Amino acid sequence: MLIELCEVTKVYPMGKQGFYALKGLSLSIEKKEFIAIVGPSGSGKSTLLNIIGCLDKPTLGKYLLEGEDIGQKDDFSLAKIRNTKIGFVFQSFNLLPRATVCENVLLPLFYSRIPRRQRRGLAEEILEKVGLATKSNHRPSELSGGEQQRVAIARALVNNPLIVCADEPTGNLDTTTGREIMEIFAQLNKRGATILLITHERDIASYASKIIYLRDGEIVECS
Ligand SMILES: Nc1ncnc2c1ncn2[C@@H]1O[C@H](COP(=O)(O)OP(=O)(O)OP(=O)(O)O)[C@@H](O)[C@H]1O
Ligand SMILES: [Mg+2]
Repeated sequence: MLIELCEVTKVYPMGKQGFYALKGLSLSIEKKEFIAIVGPSGSGKSTLLNIIGCLDKPTLGKYLLEGEDIGQKDDFSLAKIRNTKIGFVFQSFNLLPRATVCENVLLPLFYSRIPRRQRRGLAEEILEKVGLATKSNHRPSELSGGEQQRVAIARALVNNPLIVCADEPTGNLDTTTGREIMEIFAQLNKRGATILLITHERDIASYASKIIYLRDGEIVECS
């Protein structure tokens, strides 16, 4: 099993009791699954994805990633796991404005063991995959929203991650551009990537092989 959550609870500090954003979630995800996480605002979607993406740890319960207990890791080990195993895509593309498209994609390779002279070729190859080969030397401000998101996807893929975590990647895009982005995720999934994607939109969730419905920090349905 790639991902195993066992009774995962997340409590944020708030007042005396704390706020229970996740209430004992259990969940298993296999390699090559395409999971959509849906649910109302505040239901715990980002909290769950941040735990799965090792940006945060459970307050209670266990999270095993490839059998490794993530709750026991220190920040340094977590950063290493994120850098080598996880690719993130966010709603706001989070690109560096002064860097070129290619430099943005190269960023996650800063600590990589891939020799420096091979890196640029790798970035170009991935930009080709997302249809941006000709924009490599542009700045993000010169691109459309959909193109910026494709750069963010290329950046998430450059380390060849085990898991791609996307938190409402189409949230800032019009419907047509959103579909193009979803097609890219669908293709990645076909080639073997495991994808976890949060969305508000039902038709976007239809790209997934499994949909997890969250409400008030609990899984209410999984289909
Ligand atoms: N750092 C924090 N401190 C305290 N409470 C938090 C923190 N982060 C999130 N919460 C609370 O936890 C709950 C779940 O938040 P989360 O961001 O996971 O929701 P979400 O399902 O992603 O919502 P949205 O669709 O609006 O992005 C919310 O009620 C939120 O206010
Ligand atoms: Mg959220």
